[in-house]
Amino acid sequence: MSTPRRLLLVNGPNLNLLGIREPDVYGHETLADVEALAARAAAAHGFEIRAVQSNHEGVLVDAIHAARTDCAGIVINPAGLTHTSVVLRDALAGVALPVAEVHISDVTKREPFRHHSYVADVAVVHVVGEGVAGYATAIDRLVDVIAGRAEG
Ligand code: DQA
Repeated sequence: MSTPRRLLLVNGPNLNLLGIREPDVYGHETLADVEALAARAAAAHGFEIRAVQSNHEGVLVDAIHAARTDCAGIVINPAGLTHTSVVLRDALAGVALPVAEVHISDVTKREPFRHHSYVADVAVVHVVGEGVAGYATAIDRLVDVIAGRAEG
C-alpha cells in the first residue's frame, strides 16, 4: 500500500488560546495561524494536514487512532499532557506512525515539572523553543523520516 500524503497535526489542551494565553511565553500567533503555517509547510512536500485541537484527552486519543489507516505521520504538541499522560503516549505507540513532538516554548529552561515528557521516547523528531515556526521545522524533519521509511 502506498504511503498516504497526509499528516495529523495534534494540539493539546489550552492551545486553542494561543495568541491570548501568556503571549510572553507562547507569542501572539493564534491556533489558526499555526494550522495555516503547518498546512503550508506540509504542502511544500506534497502533504496535506488534518488538524485537531482539543482540551479533552480522549478526543486526542480517538484522532490518533483514526490516523492509523490514513496518515503517514503525526505532529503533536501535547501541551500540558506532555508531562502527565501515559494514555497519550500509549496511543502514539499503539498506532506505530512516526511522531514529531513540538513545543513552542523551551520546556528544558522552564519549571522542572516541564522537563519530563511521556511522549519523547515514542517520537522520532523533537523541536522545542523555536516558537510556532517549530511546527514547520518538525514537519520538514518528519517528512524526511517518512521518505526514508518509504525507501527502506
Ligand atoms: C507547551 C509547553 C507545555 O509545558 C505547556 O503545558 C503547554 C505548551 C509548549 O508548546 O511550549 O501547554 O507544550
